[in-house]
Amino acid sequence: MFSAFFRSTLVALVASAVAVSAAPGLQLALSGADKVDGLNNLKIIATVTNTGDETLKVLNDPRGPLSQMPTETFAISHDSGAVPAFTGVRVKYVPSVAAKVGKEDAFTILAPGESINVEHDLSAAYNFTSSGAGQYSFAAVNRFHFVDPETGAPVELYADQPDAHVASVSGPLSIARRSVTKRETYTGMYTKQYYETLQS
Ligand SMILES: *[C@@H]1O[C@H](CO)[C@@H](O)[C@H](O)[C@H]1NC(C)=O
Repeated sequence: MFSAFFRSTLVALVASAVAVSAAPGLQLALSGADKVDGLNNLKIIATVTNTGDETLKVLNDPRGPLSQMPTETFAISHDSGAVPAFTGVRVKYVPSVAAKVGKEDAFTILAPGESINVEHDLSAAYNFTSSGAGQYSFAAVNRFHFVDPETGAPVELYADQPDAHVASVSGPLSIARRSVTKRETYTGMYTKQYYETLQS
């Protein structure tokens, strides 16, 4: 049987774990299979949760986990310390311009406690051939911007990312991608003014 002391300590711990903070906050968690056969099957789901007490209008930065664009969104390392080669696209993205242009698909709106899942196909951005088969740990870019409701300006916010995702990867470790033309612009999704790819 718990003493009154333990019981109140337990209640306090639970309360602090679920409490929403007064300041804006985001949490980032990665999930996916823990055993992957073939790089074409390496999919990671990024879950972004609003842990604050106000609704956030978060920019869908193509360099971060809210966008499926094959940018360098993940920091990946093999148990040996080896790092897979990045083969995706690099983009130039200016949060202040993106916030001002304000297209619908430029943001993710998250109410307090609300989450969004975004699936990432890592075969589109990495080649694991030289780092080899074995166990890898994955973390994602945790820098976000939300739009200040009063000024309309982007405010930088780093998400808490308590755990790295771990998965063992075997089988074919690279796949041929359709070639991305240099300076290809995703005009369908983004406005040219604030988004362009810099290299394939
Ligand atoms: C992946 O990297 C290896 C080693 O650098 C290379 O030989 C191979 O051609 C690359 N695969 C693709 C699909 O680009």
